[in-house]
Amino acid sequence: MLLFSPAKVNLSLAVSGLREDGYHGLDSVVTLVSLGDDVTLERAAETTLEVVSDTVDLQSMPQDCERNLAVRAVRLIEQSVGRVLPTAIRIVKRIPLGGGLGGGSSNAATVLKGMNELWHLGLPLDTLCALGAQLGSDVPLFLQDGTVRMCGRGEQVERLNLSGAPSLCLVLANDGTHCPTPQVYRGWDVRHPGVENFSYKGLTDGDVFCDNLRLSLQKGKVTDVATWVFNDLEAPCFDQFPGVRGTAEALQSAGCDGVLLCGSGGTVCGMVASAEVGERVLAHPALAHCWRASVQTLPDGVMAAHGPLTPIVMVRIHVGQPCPSASVK
Ligand code: C5P
Repeated sequence: MLLFSPAKVNLSLAVSGLREDGYHGLDSVVTLVSLGDDVTLERAAETTLEVVSDTVDLQSMPQDCERNLAVRAVRLIEQSVGRVLPTAIRIVKRIPLGGGLGGGSSNAATVLKGMNELWHLGLPLDTLCALGAQLGSDVPLFLQDGTVRMCGRGEQVERLNLSGAPSLCLVLANDGTHCPTPQVYRGWDVRHPGVENFSYKGLTDGDVFCDNLRLSLQKGKVTDVATWVFNDLEAPCFDQFPGVRGTAEALQSAGCDGVLLCGSGGTVCGMVASAEVGERVLAHPALAHCWRASVQTLPDGVMAAHGPLTPIVMVRIHVGQPCPSASVK
């Protein structure tokens, strides 16, 4: 079974405060994009994991396969149904690791979905989402097959229903800076001392904001969308990681209509009017030091409608030493 495991971009990300459980309350609109990994699942004698890439540096991947989110997804589903489901997993990695694009969470969601079919488990979406939330805050959004609003710590997801909305063209750029998510959130705490009004429903003005963003996405005019996008983690990330701020400035000077940090960084997303403009941005000298890709947002329902997808990816260069074939067993 071959499955496409897409990256995500948070088009808005409001942080409402530090919660008692150590997580932060979020209100975020998240969309899936055409950059993604290929995940192959096959019934086997034992569960194994192989990860390969010719564009992504795999050196920071945990060598212990049981720590990988894809294998943890297998273990969780085995525990849930009460039997062993030995599965060989092979991942062709195109999503940079630790870049705020949700690659590991996406792989975990794809394995949950795929295992459900491969082993004819018949688990409903709600159950898969509950299992996903145990693996990470970002996992449930990848099970929705469309643009979502996510609240709580990220586990509460609601489809925005953008069927028929045009795709947006985006350029993703990453200078190789590793931005650990907890460190970026701690930077937000430093800037907002004493803010603990955790709200599982998101911010009070979140509904209005989300409606405006949703309407602009429905129309698909990039300059309108660009007025609504924001990320509360941008300032704490830029403060701590000047290289990421530099990537954002480079995308701006390369002619993007809007520039936005992806998740907790360090990938930065530039919004452009067309794929042709995206090509020009990719070729801009200010971005020559970065890994970059020209991508499109995925229309709602496209994963279910088309099954495995061939991602439309353009990757010009990559940062660091790629590991052409890393295998973890
Ligand atoms: O849920 P996940 O394991 O992906 O989160 C990684 C880390 O990111 C958490 O340990 C926490 O430090 C931070 N986080 C947060 N609030 C969220 C999501 C993540 O503080 N809503």
